[in-house]
Amino acid sequence: MEKYFITTPIYYPSDKLHIGHTYCTVATDALARYKRLQGCDVLFLTGTDEHGQKIEDKAREAGKTPQEFVDSIVSAPGGVLDLWKLMNISNDRFIRTTDSYHVKSIQLIFRKMYDNGDIYKGKYVGKYCKPCESFWTETQLKDGKCPDCGREVQDAEEEAYFFRLSKYADKIQDLLENTDFLEPRSRVHEMVNNFIKPGLEDLCVSRTSFTWGIPVDFDPKHVVYVWIDALANYITALGYGNDKYNDYDKGWWPGVNIVGKEIVRFHSIIWPAILMSLGEPLPKKVFGHGWLMLDGGKMSKSKGNVVDPYLLAEKFGVDALRFFLLRTFPFGSDGNFSNELLIQTINVDLANDLGNLLSRTVSMVGKYFDGQLPAEQRFQGEMDDELVAMVKGLRDRYEAQMEKFAIHNALAEIFKVIGRANKYIDENTPWVLAKDMEANGPRLACVMYNLLETLRVCAILLTPFIPTSSAEILRQIGASADGASCTWESAGQWAVLPKTVSVVRGENLFPRIDMDKALAELEEAAAQARKAALPALEVEPQTEEKVDFDTFCKSDFRAVKVKACENVKKSAKLLKFTLDDGTGADRQILSGIATYYKPEELVGKTLMAIVNLPPRKMMGLESNGMLISAVHTEQGEERLNLLMLDDKIPAGAKMC
Ligand code: MSP
Repeated sequence: MEKYFITTPIYYPSDKLHIGHTYCTVATDALARYKRLQGCDVLFLTGTDEHGQKIEDKAREAGKTPQEFVDSIVSAPGGVLDLWKLMNISNDRFIRTTDSYHVKSIQLIFRKMYDNGDIYKGKYVGKYCKPCESFWTETQLKDGKCPDCGREVQDAEEEAYFFRLSKYADKIQDLLENTDFLEPRSRVHEMVNNFIKPGLEDLCVSRTSFTWGIPVDFDPKHVVYVWIDALANYITALGYGNDKYNDYDKGWWPGVNIVGKEIVRFHSIIWPAILMSLGEPLPKKVFGHGWLMLDGGKMSKSKGNVVDPYLLAEKFGVDALRFFLLRTFPFGSDGNFSNELLIQTINVDLANDLGNLLSRTVSMVGKYFDGQLPAEQRFQGEMDDELVAMVKGLRDRYEAQMEKFAIHNALAEIFKVIGRANKYIDENTPWVLAKDMEANGPRLACVMYNLLETLRVCAILLTPFIPTSSAEILRQIGASADGASCTWESAGQWAVLPKTVSVVRGENLFPRIDMDKALAELEEAAAQARKAALPALEVEPQTEEKVDFDTFCKSDFRAVKVKACENVKKSAKLLKFTLDDGTGADRQILSGIATYYKPEELVGKTLMAIVNLPPRKMMGLESNGMLISAVHTEQGEERLNLLMLDDKIPAGAKMC
């Protein structure tokens, strides 16, 4: 059996993952499932890339150790592992770069490259982009900023180890230009023109300014550059340099690395150079997919424009979400995410086209034949030929696209057939045939059989995308009882189901979604999520400007007792207080706190007021002073509490 090793990038657990990460993983999952369907022995690897300064900083901000912090995003409930479980990701292995076997392998790799002279000690002077964990030279900067993310860079100078990347420049240019190592082809030009032709410089591969990384074992004040640590996961997870696994030499390597476009540089230049230095085979392929954008920009937590996959999966179903991601956006290009597009894709492709084809077919077999087709069937030549020919060639057309990673085109091929099958129903008008079963029964049975066969082939080929729904379709059309009619081989054949196949009516797999209602609900959920993301409790920062003691002492704070309190007419905010301030005369103060207190709950309370402010008119009434309250913000909403004093304190007592 052919061995096939496929990987996603390993994700930074610096924040919760969003729909962009989900896109990348679901696409790789579909490719892995496709290869399994074809009969390959697949090893699908994903994981998390847990070291680096960004994680160290985030952990500090969260008041956690780096390990506690990454655990809270990777393995805690609702973390990365849970997300992949929810999305039905079929990875065979999950690597965390904090796993001890990986740490050991990285130390060995670093030492090997040091021993062979490809890593040497030098001094780093240049610029560093913290969010990207990337070093840049002056000339590589774009308008003085990081050429990858456009953010500010900082000066950096320190003793460091360097990797002789420059030594591999020609070999890598040759690899990129003269083989199909990197796809899509457009990315080759980008790499060669932007990075190789201007001159590949040696790469700084160790840091001393933070500690959250893998120590260089022969010089432990250095930690290994996070990209060496991360890239090598593709081989350490197979057992390269460790005893944890034993698969590296067993035909699994080289594999296929699926990555997002912004990390193609690391995967198509640095990664092959590391492997060349180690004398190991290069990956079979690096495929750089596009980004899922929101309002034309890349999603990112720091921009606050991320879409939550949990919410969408819960609302529309895991299969519908997986399908949408892969059907809508050409895999090698960027795509603009929107909720409208998501709902529209579900309604058109899944509810209308696929869902209707299934429910119409199964219910007609139920209605006209009591759920089981008769053996006597009449094929009618040209009425059937076009559909049958399309279905017969579908597997090969689909395979041709999948082999090119043109996932969206493979799906388009399936949906052309589904569209043709729906038209076939309209052309053959089964409900008219059913009016005279004696004359038309064999013809009607053949129409139904052709539809069931069409559904069978489509459901098999849809398995990598919508695994749960495909299994249910196959069950409803009577294919699953017999494993042989659900295989890759059988998807390339016609008339595999027995003539007397029985169907099973089932639930409606893809109910139509009410667009307006769903959009309103999503908007409400997004507003709630934005609110929940606000700091739980916030107080105004303290004033820097000092006030001198004498000025402060001029403020006359007194205890006051509330004799009466009422709402001010025509004002939603103001309360009018009649107060005993210890002078014997009533004092009137107006306070804008009616949204926080009901007047009756304040009568009899002892409060604090400043009494020597100049009188002020509000809504035609005079206010002599101000009641003192404490203000803070909770989940974005302002909270106010009057300062309530011990009732033992007499009216007029001076606060000092
Ligand atoms: N840790 C590195 C990868 C190391 S691999 C040896 C990293 N991690 S990441 O979490 O930032 O990104 C992981 C993957 O998610 C990347 O391939 C990236 O392109 C992808 N995506 C993140 N946001 C994305 C979109 N909005 N759209 C599509 N993919 C996106 O990079």
